[in-house]
Formats: sequence, C-alpha cells, structure tokens
Amino acid sequence: MARPKNRPHARRRSTGAAPAASGSGRKWVWILGSVIVGGGVIALGLLSGSQSRTASAAVRDPVEIALGAELYSASCAVCHGSDLEGTDTGPPFLNTIYAPNHHADEAFQRAVLGGVVPHHWNYGIMAPVDGFDRDEVAVIVEFVRSEQEAAGIIRDPSHP
Ligand code: HEC
Repeated sequence: MARPKNRPHARRRSTGAAPAASGSGRKWVWILGSVIVGGGVIALGLLSGSQSRTASAAVRDPVEIALGAELYSASCAVCHGSDLEGTDTGPPFLNTIYAPNHHADEAFQRAVLGGVVPHHWNYGIMAPVDGFDRDEVAVIVEFVRSEQEAAGIIRDPSHP
C-alpha cells in the first residue's frame, strides 16, 4: 500500500529535484570552467610574457657581464674599440650586422678560437686570440650583447 503511493511520490520528488540539482550542477561546472579558462589565460599570459622577454633582451648576469667587460678590454678593445665602436684595425660591434640574428653567439666563438677571414669590411684578417676557452668567450659575448641591447641593437632588420 505504501509502496505504490510512495513510488510516484518519490519519482515526483526526484524529477522535481533533478532540474534544481542539475541547475546548480551546471552553475558549478560554469564556475569551474571559468576558473580553469581564466587560469589558462593567466598562465598563457605569463608564458608569452617570459618568452618575449627572452626573445628581446635576455636577463643577464651582471657578474658575467663585468667579467666579460674585463676580458674584452684586455683582448678585444685594442681593435674593436673600448666603446665597441671599432678602431682602424677592427670593426664596431655596435652595428646591426653584429646583432644576434646576423652574427650569433657562435660567430664570436669561431672568431676568437679560429680567427676571421674578412667578409664585411676592409680591416684585414682577425687572427685567433690565444688563451681563451669557450666559457671565457661566452662571458665576452654576454658583455657585448648587453652593450648592444643598451644601444638598441637587438636584430639586423636586413638579415633573415
Ligand atoms: C688585432 C685586431 C683584433 C683583435 C685583437 C680582435 N679582433 Fe675581432 N676582428 C678583427 C677584424 C679585422 C675582424 C674582421 C672584420 C671583417 O669581417 O671584415 C674581426 C671580426 C670579429 C668578429 C666577426 C666575426 C664574423 O663572423 O664576421 C667577431 C665576433 C670578433 N672579431 C670578435 C672578437 C673578440 C671577442 C675579440 C677579443 C677576444 C677580438 N675579436 C679581438 C680584429 C680584431
């Protein structure tokens, strides 16, 4: 007796409760969805922010730059200039052709360790510079890049 009565009642209750439950459920899905999407947007923003930072001006270590400046003054400035503007015996690094997209860091390694056959100017050859390892050349590059960036030389627009 109680069962047949209860069943429709229970069904009614459950069908009555269902829209309410799924309604609030939908609301939670919505809130959760916005949190996930919002978080994703923020994460993407952070990601692209850090990528554009590395693409333009890398965060450089001031200690490395200072060491690079010392090595540069001692061994490169005599030809490339203490202000990186060049001399009669070597070209200026504050020139867009020495921007990273035209002369990558590896070009500095090759120049110091193996010398340079002149191909941009008429200064003659650059002989290999003795007594450098790759790590030392790398800190010189840090110094040169930081000076280039300060001068607004980030890339050579006439080079791919
Ligand atoms: C005796 C003079 C002299 C000294 C010292 C010297 N260079 Fe050079 N460097 C030159 C000349 C000349 C060129 C050739 C420019 C050209 O391409 O016509 C050159 C070219 C370069 C290039 C360009 C390489 C390329 O692929 O075009 C780099 C990089 C470079 N030097 C780095 C250095 C660094 C770093 C030092 C110090 C460790 C140094 N040079 C010391 C004279 C010098």
